[in-house]
Amino acid sequence: DWQMADFAKTTIEAIRKKVGNGKVLCALSGGVDSSVAAVLLSKAVGEQLTCVFVDHGLLRKNEGDEVEAVFGPKGPYKLNFIRVNAQERFYAKLAGVTEPERKRKIIGEEFIRVFEDEAKKIGKVDFLVQGTIYPDVIESGLGKSATIKSHHNVGGLPSVVDFKEIIEPLRLLFKDEVRKVGLELGIPDYLVYRQPFPGPGLGIRIIGDVTAEKVKIVQEADAIYREEIAKAGVDKSCNLGQYFAALTNMRSVGVMGDGRTYDYAIALRAVQTSDFMTADWARIPYDVLDIISRRIVNEVPGVNRVLLDCTSKPPATIEFE
Ligand code: XMP
Repeated sequence: DWQMADFAKTTIEAIRKKVGNGKVLCALSGGVDSSVAAVLLSKAVGEQLTCVFVDHGLLRKNEGDEVEAVFGPKGPYKLNFIRVNAQERFYAKLAGVTEPERKRKIIGEEFIRVFEDEAKKIGKVDFLVQGTIYPDVIESGLGKSATIKSHHNVGGLPSVVDFKEIIEPLRLLFKDEVRKVGLELGIPDYLVYRQPFPGPGLGIRIIGDVTAEKVKIVQEADAIYREEIAKAGVDKSCNLGQYFAALTNMRSVGVMGDGRTYDYAIALRAVQTSDFMTADWARIPYDVLDIISRRIVNEVPGVNRVLLDCTSKPPATIEFE
């Protein structure tokens, strides 16, 4: 894609010129946007870039380690990588909180506080990088009436970091364009095509209050779901834009062996979408759903029922909260 190749080249040159020998700080989430932003910066200024990765305990199964494998000292990029394991801080703040927007706010604020603590250790930097993309700009900014959910991303960081200027290299791009830039930069396919993951993470895929136990349940169910979708090639054949398991706040009766169970229901979500502003629910083959459902109830303690979300956006949203 010559347009995106040109975008990458021009952007790297512009960043290099702007940054000079300055110090750059980036909040890396492991999502496509911040990963592409980080790689653009690392191609431009290498070790002048420090990436801080906050593990808020609301990531998908093994995700923290996967991010570290790519961006950490053993990965291909020469940048300074700091991983902060802040699970306990987030769980403590979220205890007993059920309202979606409050959960978002708490996660966003705690994220900023954790980041602030790290930024203090690093001291003064010249530039702060954000992986903001165009839909973030329109959905949470311009015209307050358009704000349906508060997208925390890294919006509050500028206030707690001592820096001169902000760099948002992806501000004018849609998601599909960000992926093309990623490919142009030689980022591995599995990273580029990784589905988007919301800043508040599993915090908004657990309906109601968040606990460490519920995080574990949704992580395990989601890992099985993604594994079977990939194995059956459904992510490609059904052109899935986003798919994940969510933990409903509902428990229901079931039978297992000779016993009665009273456990949680997992909801499976899968959508086709080009811009995430509208989406159609994906028709995953029944045979694949059958395998997923059986595996989840057999392998994930605390779950005895699997439900399929067959609602499009609008009127539903992609996430459950
Ligand atoms: P919805 O649920 O609004 O999701 O249809 C549209 C896209 O946005 C993502 N999303 C979020 N991303 N912080 C984020 O960084 C959030 O609070 C948030 N809420 C939704 C969602 O995963 C989907 O890709």
